Amino acid sequence: MKKIVVLSGAGVSAESGISTFRDSDGLWENFNVEDVASIEGWYRNPELMINFYNERRRQLEHCQPNDAHKIIAELERQYEVVVVTQNIDNLHEKGGSTNIIHLHGELTKACSERGKTNVVDIGYRDIEFGEKAADGALLRPFIVWFGEDVPLLTAAAEQVRKADILIIIGTSLNVYPAAGLVYYAKDDAEIYVIDPKEVQPIQRKVTFIRQKATDGMRQLRAQLMKA
Ligand code: OAD
Repeated sequence: MKKIVVLSGAGVSAESGISTFRDSDGLWENFNVEDVASIEGWYRNPELMINFYNERRRQLEHCQPNDAHKIIAELERQYEVVVVTQNIDNLHEKGGSTNIIHLHGELTKACSERGKTNVVDIGYRDIEFGEKAADGALLRPFIVWFGEDVPLLTAAAEQVRKADILIIIGTSLNVYPAAGLVYYAKDDAEIYVIDPKEVQPIQRKVTFIRQKATDGMRQLRAQLMKA
């Protein structure tokens, strides 16, 4: 069975009603990255960070996977598929994908601020400011913030290295180390990029599908799936 690795970003969830980060109506238009997405921000004002992610989690509860998530899951019928996502939402899971690496963490989990241990599933509930993890330290969102390690990077790179087909969807490729994963692909891997806009240049031969995630995945399904 051929192997597909999907490298996804905020754009795959845009049609499900989740804001991207860098588009004109994106999250970073309204929030300061340093305040809500960096480890420095956490030590400066943990309550602000907890509230920010509580709000994201409340929104997520009402979001449904779109056809792009569902088609990516459907590919599992004919391919070994691994999804490497920068997204903290759970829409790939809800869409039916079974093998997902969340590079930047997961909204529906929390952990101790001490070494990000004691990870717990919290579903869609709020984290209360002052709430403690099992080790007595503050409970924090299980998110990889700027300035923190990306523990699953090596596992993700291993997957990309083995891919016959790499699908890059809905990411501006601005954030490293995630954006560098494309360069782990084999020389003869087929690389597709689905995005309605230009993304950061990729120094590899790629097929660009300049469409929204849903339409782009419909087109690619027609090409990749045998009747
Ligand atoms: P960006 O907001 O940087 O990029 C989103 C991409 O999705 C852009 O290239 C858009 O053109 C594209 N897009 C918008 N609507 C789309 C649609 N309907 N279908 C397909 N593509 C669409 O988001 P990411 O690249 O995911 O990290 O951002 C990477 C990281 O930056 C995030 O994981 C987050 C952020 O800071 C952390 O917070 C650690």
